[in-house]
Amino acid sequence: MIAQKKETFLKDYQPPAYLVDRVDLRIELDAQSTLVQSRLLCRPNQQTKKPLVLNGKRLEVVQVALNGSVLTRNRFTFTDGLLTIAHVPAEPFEVAVTTRINPAENTALEGLYLSSGNYCTQCEPEGFRTITCFPDRPDVMSVFTTTVIGDKTSCPVLLANGNLMASGDLDDGRHYATWHDPFPKPSYLFALVAGDLVRISDTFTTRSGRTVALHIYVEARNRDKCGHAMRSLKKAMRWDEEHFGREYDLDLYMIVAVDDFNMGAMENKGLNVFNSKYVLALPETATDADYEGIEAVIAHEYFHNWTGNRITCRDWFQLSLKEGLTVFRDQEFTADMSSRPVKRIEDVNIIRSLQFREDSGPMAHPVRPPSFVEINNFYTLTVYNKGAEVIRMLFTLLGAETFRQGMDIYFDRHDGQAVTCDDFVAAMETAWGKDLSQFKRWYSQAGTPELTVTGHYSAADQQFILEIEQSCPPTRESVVKEPFFMPIAIGLLDENGNALPVNTDAGTGTDTDTKMLILSEQRQQYFFPNITSKPTVSFLRNFSAPVKVHHAQSEEELHRLMTHDTDPFNRWEAGQTLSLRHILEQIANFQHQQPISIRHRLVRGLRDFLLDTDLDPAFTAMAVTLPTENWIGQQMTIIDPVAIFSVRQQFRAQIGLQLRDELLQRYHDLTGDIPYQYNAVEAARRTLRNTCLAYLLAPEIGGRLTPELLQLGTEQYQRSDNMTDSIAALGCVVNADAAAGAALLADFYTKWQHDPLVVDKWLALQAGCSLPGTLEHVKNLTGHASFSIKNPNKVRALIATFCATNHNQFHAADGHGYCFLGDQVIRLDPLNPQIAARMLTPLTQWRRYDPTRQQMMCEQLERIRRQPLVSDDVQEVVDRSLQK
Ligand code: TRP
Ligand code: ZN
Repeated sequence: MIAQKKETFLKDYQPPAYLVDRVDLRIELDAQSTLVQSRLLCRPNQQTKKPLVLNGKRLEVVQVALNGSVLTRNRFTFTDGLLTIAHVPAEPFEVAVTTRINPAENTALEGLYLSSGNYCTQCEPEGFRTITCFPDRPDVMSVFTTTVIGDKTSCPVLLANGNLMASGDLDDGRHYATWHDPFPKPSYLFALVAGDLVRISDTFTTRSGRTVALHIYVEARNRDKCGHAMRSLKKAMRWDEEHFGREYDLDLYMIVAVDDFNMGAMENKGLNVFNSKYVLALPETATDADYEGIEAVIAHEYFHNWTGNRITCRDWFQLSLKEGLTVFRDQEFTADMSSRPVKRIEDVNIIRSLQFREDSGPMAHPVRPPSFVEINNFYTLTVYNKGAEVIRMLFTLLGAETFRQGMDIYFDRHDGQAVTCDDFVAAMETAWGKDLSQFKRWYSQAGTPELTVTGHYSAADQQFILEIEQSCPPTRESVVKEPFFMPIAIGLLDENGNALPVNTDAGTGTDTDTKMLILSEQRQQYFFPNITSKPTVSFLRNFSAPVKVHHAQSEEELHRLMTHDTDPFNRWEAGQTLSLRHILEQIANFQHQQPISIRHRLVRGLRDFLLDTDLDPAFTAMAVTLPTENWIGQQMTIIDPVAIFSVRQQFRAQIGLQLRDELLQRYHDLTGDIPYQYNAVEAARRTLRNTCLAYLLAPEIGGRLTPELLQLGTEQYQRSDNMTDSIAALGCVVNADAAAGAALLADFYTKWQHDPLVVDKWLALQAGCSLPGTLEHVKNLTGHASFSIKNPNKVRALIATFCATNHNQFHAADGHGYCFLGDQVIRLDPLNPQIAARMLTPLTQWRRYDPTRQQMMCEQLERIRRQPLVSDDVQEVVDRSLQK
């Protein structure tokens, strides 16, 4: 048995015993044996004399020296990931540690590793300790100087954080580069890149007139794919100046794209490392969604320079301090670059389909978790996306101007510091001049609050009373919940759908349609005078708080909101609620072996959206799309994945049939005649057109499409000049007709087998295929030449797409889907525990299914737990999932 990592608690936080003012690194690269020499200038941070304790993992300690003298083995210990020097001076001192590491063997992609033969690093959160021994915690901030030494032929490029200070040749065909980063930073922001890369250069002039060099490094074959990333970076830099008054602070900003990466990208100071998926794009290889993703992730990492790097986290419990805030900032950026309502709908879909599920399952944790075993397991939808919702609520409560003042106070007060979520909220309190202590419960209580809404209209009093009651289900860290404090944006509509002025007491120039209510009690009533007839409530406009709502509204009211609400989010929401109701009703029929039918009223509602050409096509696409399978599942006590899929699929087929003429009409009207361009308008047009195509090609279960419709898809696939339209058409055909799909898939692979990111799409399309037999196919593909279990993008494309999105087949009654996931996690865990733990997510949800599925899912969790070398990452997720 291996020693199990223990739980770390927020309440046990202690400031570091020693600080490190300066770090000098000399790294001699070698694939199997890299030598790392580090000199730390240390200084006691406390009066009491404590031993100096450095973290060190998966490395060989070659030598330790204190103030220039080598320490004999009895002067220090190195066990259980800690290098301890019992006696150090009370004055500042220098520690020098030499370590040896093996980048070639590093499949965990944490620390220093090789990707396509190039060296790169990933240190967040605790990867630096696998490179050298160091107090690897974010509240130790140091000035780094890094000398990288490598072979001139295999590593012509040698990069680290900051500015290049010196470079030159060495013996044996090697060369070196010395980099200096003047900004003190925690070790998790350290980065090193070395290899055979080409550079794409541009410049950006800051608003104060400084010129910043912008460099993107990629493999030579990708040289032509960086234009969009570079444009996105410049847009993000400008936007942060204009919206938050934040300028870039170094003279150089570098981005490196690598194919093997555990997450999306990493904000290392001055040297971002990116998953190539979020850099490389050409119209022929990347979809509109990829273009949007690149723009958003480039912006996210750039925004971290202020929210994350200049001001960082005191400890990893504060992760949302940088992630929630930076996600909020990138969401706002994307909203400004494209369509604000559509972006909001996309973000709410993520929250409701995925974060709510996390918040109601065994991994539920507050935005600031009170404890963790493996911090890597807490880079979650809760910390990132719910964290962003918490920031958004502050933005909504304070208003844009006061929120901006709060941000300025935060930057002024804490620049150069490692701080907590409390510090952030305190800055907002100063700006607002009101107490936010109740609001802070969002940081400490997990679970999704539920609101029950009732309206009482009195014709006699001409008064409307809105009553809201809140509750929150128990979670492991807090069984009984205190009421949350949240903004509830509402509007009232009269029977003709006209907005009633509900915010008349506000100043001029404000939106009189929307009233911002504050909910702070467990139960509260709100009074609206001078209401002359029973109003329709437009509740929680723009999703002003991340909550579930129970609100009994009639179909008539929902239709009124769908057609007339001035809040676009709630127009969409009313349509979703209506669809959800009809779907759930038919799921009950399906479960009783009754035929499924779609009601005319729903089809008519969708038709109205479809034909309203005044609407942004991207909005229309969202409005005619049925609720996600995940969101439907969230409404059910026992999730029935087969019923959900079958009813939703049948609805889609029926909509395709009943609105065939309208869909075809819009499809043709939306056909563009200019070459592909990525911009919000063109992307919106393609999105709606492909949504129409998907309806037209949605087959009834076990049914067949007419050859004409199949031909429509095949033709689009063949004629399109861009990946957006070709992959959309390919997806439609693959999900409609096995034979036609197979032929096009073969064609696609032949054409794109040389491009790993496009091959990922090819794998994902097959793994997501809703026709029967997908699991067998996916199993075969795990042996395909294009697949590698060591590459996270491939694992996500094939295995995660099947297990986390193909619910109907993953949850097949025979349990083979579960067994497959068990096999893959067991195979992956020894190689890459971070990804293995993430892959487990679908199994952690076992409690939501029927007893037979529950048992089969648990069997896989137990089986994984019985493996002799299960990682801390996987162990924690399995343990929490199986806990009583
Ligand atoms: N800080 C990164 C971001 O959100 C996240 C990240 C990148 C990460 N790589 C990682 C987190 C590896 C954990 C492990 O921008
Ligand atoms: Zn981030």
